[in-house]
Amino acid sequence: MSLPDQASVTAQLAAFTADLAQAGSLRDAQAVRDRFLGRKNSVVASWMAMIGGAPPADKKAIGQRANELKQAIEALWSEYQARAEQNSRPAGAIDVTLPGRVPPLGRRHPLTLVRDRMEAIFTRMGFAIVEGPEVEDEWHCFDALNMPAEHPARDMQDTLYLAAPVVGESGRPDDTRTMLRTHTSSIQVRYMQAHEPPIRIVAPGRVYRRDDLDLTHTPMFSQMEGLAVGEGISLADLKGTLTAFAREMFSPSARVRFRPSFFPYTEPSAEIDISCWQCDGGGCPMCKRTGWIEIGGCGMVHPAVFEAVGYDPERYTGFAFGIGIERVTILRHRVQDIRLFFENDLRFLEQFPY
Ligand code: PHE
Repeated sequence: MSLPDQASVTAQLAAFTADLAQAGSLRDAQAVRDRFLGRKNSVVASWMAMIGGAPPADKKAIGQRANELKQAIEALWSEYQARAEQNSRPAGAIDVTLPGRVPPLGRRHPLTLVRDRMEAIFTRMGFAIVEGPEVEDEWHCFDALNMPAEHPARDMQDTLYLAAPVVGESGRPDDTRTMLRTHTSSIQVRYMQAHEPPIRIVAPGRVYRRDDLDLTHTPMFSQMEGLAVGEGISLADLKGTLTAFAREMFSPSARVRFRPSFFPYTEPSAEIDISCWQCDGGGCPMCKRTGWIEIGGCGMVHPAVFEAVGYDPERYTGFAFGIGIERVTILRHRVQDIRLFFENDLRFLEQFPY
């Protein structure tokens, strides 16, 4: 056997590393270590044993090679042990020193948040929340609301009619069409048919119109209808109710203005303007410098509507309103484009805090 030199050290270290990598268990690994480092019959031990019979000039060099090999193997061995200890932690063990992971939370849609808030405000004022069908017949959506057959809103241009007709409740031979409701006012009719006054309800829901998509229009949007019927209900009650709503929804100093308008099912009719909560009526970009912001329509229930549902118009009066939920959300949260509500982009949806 030739005397060990530097190349022998390198070769033995490579062999040790390779054998250790092959070891399938700690016991195997210890056997590898013993074959290189052990006191008897190991590589290091055999190099040490050569010193005695070597020429005196070589003794020192052999001792140095043997020491080098021993120290290098000991270093590799302690590294191996440290790694083995780390891997021997039970799988899935919790490292309590790591920062916690925050699970991604779902959240409610901005339109849902605003609708919930509106419902809460009206509920506190004593209004019940009711719903109605999105697929309507012409009688509930139009006829009963004092919109006769010639009314332009019934036009194919404006209303989405369904292919399969049903016979409506007007009894008229032409009343066979079914449609997607164009406003939540149809719920007023259904509710009055089924209940006697006094009535105080709000009815949120989706409505459909034949509009093309743009910044401010979608063929589907949502409204909240309001209806109060009883004896002696006046325009002042309507204004008080909407003012209380505006103060809670927008600003404690909000004022309500009625701008004369026309709806076939109310008389008088008005657009609901709220004093701009950004500038408090002074004029700013949000209210287009007018100081007022429109959120819907309203009025006193037309006697023809009471007649259609079988109420005595001499005995009862009532008010009704319809507020655009997208409109309220857009204004409250300064949303630039109504289409954002329907695109399901999380970057948009995650911005709504409450
Ligand atoms: N239905 C009307 C609209 O869709 C709003 C409205 C509701 C007006 C109730 C008066 C009374 O614009």
